[in-house]
Amino acid sequence: MNVIGIKYNMEVVKKRTKRKKFMKHKELVESDYVLTPEWCAKDIMEYFAPTGKVLDPCRGLNKVFHNQMPNDADWCEIQEGKNFFEYDKSVDWIIGNPPYSIFHDWMEHSFAIADNIVYLLPTFKIFNALGLCRMYGQNGWIKHIRFYDVGKEIEWSRSRPIVAVHFQKNYFGDTSWSYYEKGNKLFHPQTLIDVGQ
Ligand SMILES: C[S@@+](CC[C@H](N)C(=O)[O-])C[C@H]1O[C@@H](n2cnc3c(N)ncnc32)[C@H](O)[C@@H]1O
Repeated sequence: MNVIGIKYNMEVVKKRTKRKKFMKHKELVESDYVLTPEWCAKDIMEYFAPTGKVLDPCRGLNKVFHNQMPNDADWCEIQEGKNFFEYDKSVDWIIGNPPYSIFHDWMEHSFAIADNIVYLLPTFKIFNALGLCRMYGQNGWIKHIRFYDVGKEIEWSRSRPIVAVHFQKNYFGDTSWSYYEKGNKLFHPQTLIDVGQ
């Protein structure tokens, strides 16, 4: 199988993951293999500036987040035999672009091992189930949402809003936001009217 230029051996992936759910819907699983453009991974790393122990939970064969991380950053990738669900060390930050079809389980495990979680996601994915929102309510809420208004520059977005969302364990305060516009990199929450002035 060849998805966006990368060959996946699904038999190997199937064997290596213990989660049956992972292989339930072939199309959904294929949609898990979308790649982050380098500029976007760079922006996320620069914006959230993680410190302490950092983990890329699914670095992909492109290693696009891991390449931007501190030298001692850890990683998992199922295609390279390192299953995130088997990673049980505590970390300060998890940052990456997770597989969407197993997002609920993925978030639960993320909260189990990390204080800060930043994931690149289509916005709808964050709130598409009550169970998910309840789980955030028990573990930690969204501290910051960074919107990417870049159209087809994230080709798999298909015009859906894409965000980097920062959850923090035991944080239940307000959510701030910032906005990344094509060619106009904004580092503070502000309105589009502010930008035009
Ligand atoms: C959306 S892709 C992101 C790839 C890369 N990090 C990027 O941002 O371009 C999700 C990645 O999760 C990996 N993956 C899926 N299940 C996994 C698991 N249980 N443990 C570790 N990696 C997994 C896939 O192989 C795939 O590389």
